[in-house]
Amino acid sequence: MEYFNLALHHIHNLLRWAVFFTGFWAILRAYSGYKNNKSWSSTDESAGFWFVMSCHTQLLTGLFLYIYSGHYTIFSNMGEGMKNSITRFWGVEHITGMLIAIVIVQIARILSKKANTDKLKHKKALIWYSIGIFLILISIPWPWREAGRALFPAF
Ligand code: HEM
Repeated sequence: MEYFNLALHHIHNLLRWAVFFTGFWAILRAYSGYKNNKSWSSTDESAGFWFVMSCHTQLLTGLFLYIYSGHYTIFSNMGEGMKNSITRFWGVEHITGMLIAIVIVQIARILSKKANTDKLKHKKALIWYSIGIFLILISIPWPWREAGRALFPAF
């Protein structure tokens, strides 16, 4: 089971880059589409799809990690756990920030699909994907944070 946990850490660590690049790709396409009045193309559709897919994969691997790493134990002594910035980050902040972000990214895709005009599709995608990626960026354990982790998995 230790290998499983280690593999999940590596996958979760690496997939952050998939989230990052697909997110920026979707945002750049939405920005350019909105600014230049472009039609909503199948590539815009794919950009959103891959962004949502990578977020969902992070959700799945993250949930397993959360259980295997035992971060839920913060709830057995919430007062003490919240006083420590590391246990608070892993027990509450990372998961809450990411869950909200993933819901917003999913909503962004639905709103952009349902919008009536191509301009509005690009606008909705631009606004909501940007909010989602902002929340993701502030919830990542960047190496310079107290609860920081390496930028890439160390094999
Ligand atoms: C877009 C979504 C997410 C991104 C970009 C992300 C990113 C990361 C990164 C970079 C790490 C460090 C990996 C390492 O080197 O060990 C990490 C760890 C972790 N993440 Fe996420 N994460 C996301 C979503 C989630 C979600 C939704 C959960 C929980 C449901 C979660 C739970 C965890 C846990 C438990 C760890 C490991 C903590 C430990 O090592 O003790 N993550 N995450």
